[in-house]
Amino acid sequence: MKTVLVTGGAGFIGCNFVKLMLAHHPSYRIINVDALTYAGNLENLKEITDKGRYVFIKADIRDKEKMDEIFKTYEITSVVNFAAESHVDRSIEEPEIFLLTNVIGTQVLLDVAKKHWKAHPNDKYCKTYKPGVKFLQVSTDEVYGALGETGLFVETMPLMPNSPYSASKASADMVVRAYHETFGMPVNITRCSNNYGPFQFPEKLIPLMINNCLEEKELPVYGDGMQVRDWLHVTDHCSAIDTVLHKGVDGEVYNIGGNNEKANIEIVKLIIKTLGKSEDLIKYVKDRPGHDKRYAIDNTKITTQLDWEPSYTFEQGMKETIEWYLNHPDWIEHIILGDYVKYYQKMYH
Ligand code: NAD
Ligand code: TYD
Repeated sequence: MKTVLVTGGAGFIGCNFVKLMLAHHPSYRIINVDALTYAGNLENLKEITDKGRYVFIKADIRDKEKMDEIFKTYEITSVVNFAAESHVDRSIEEPEIFLLTNVIGTQVLLDVAKKHWKAHPNDKYCKTYKPGVKFLQVSTDEVYGALGETGLFVETMPLMPNSPYSASKASADMVVRAYHETFGMPVNITRCSNNYGPFQFPEKLIPLMINNCLEEKELPVYGDGMQVRDWLHVTDHCSAIDTVLHKGVDGEVYNIGGNNEKANIEIVKLIIKTLGKSEDLIKYVKDRPGHDKRYAIDNTKITTQLDWEPSYTFEQGMKETIEWYLNHPDWIEHIILGDYVKYYQKMYH
């Protein structure tokens, strides 16, 4: 039996991935390890009924002893590492936790995986691993830095991160690469563009704008709103990770994206229109420091070499996402009643 350790599975993408894996792989067991930071929410997982194949453990990926115990108890065969501090604006306020979780946390997981997976753990020259094991690092296109008006990110580009968040993710990528080169660990790195969809925390652009629109609050657009992101539905990101986990060539990096570039202001206007609100809600605010102008993914490698393709059009994905937020007022309310109010006041006033 395969036992997949999913870290950060109570967050936005992780919870969608846990559910996709349970549905697509009836013989797999999923161990979800999450520290339940402000972004982790067990409500995201409450629809899971298959308790026999699913285990949740509240733990920090930096806790080496605990990770070791989990590997031993559950005989982990793959790791999909989502656990991270993930919001650029927070990384500008408090960079340290990004380095601690995203870099040190990843290194701890790699070390524990190496110990349990190597055929001869005490032989430093041994590069043979138990059959079928894999460490998949969920990274981001932001590690490449920013693009100008033209061009696309390809996997061979140098990493030029600009925010503390993307610098921490790029550093983790380098550590994962080193474990492959030095210790022969079977790894993959995926670098996806911006995700949207159900269960996204309303600090990120799309759910923040939907929530503010519903409350008829100002919609804070940074700078001129002409920054471009390449949007992908979270289900398509999860299916791409599933594909890389099973078909990815050891040591390779795969970009994930659906050729869907949009300027921020277009997205904000689409949300306003869909919810029948007024564009007077838009408020242009001071730009984010170091704001990356444009991200855009070249997905040729994953589509041609691994046969993956996205299933959602942006129109359908946005329609369903907005409906999801409309149909889950309790989910939003529980978040907004927590520390979110303090966060919002600090960032936007
Ligand atoms: P998220 O912030 O919604 O979730 C992160 C999860 O990690 C939370 O459940 C949190 O509790 C958990 N976590 C944080 N620190 C931890 C620790 N020390 N130990 C254990 N768990 C911890 O993030 P997300 O948007 O779901 O992103 C998941 C991953 O995907 C991240 O690695 C992110 O860099 C990457 N990614 C995100 C996007 C995007 O658009 N959201 C795009 C590309 C890549
Ligand atoms: P975000 O969802 O934070 O993702 P990222 O910074 O990782 O791309 O932001 C997406 C874009 O939306 C980015 O260009 C910043 C912009 N933005 C706003 O204009 N206003 C906001 O309140 C937020 C959260 C983001």
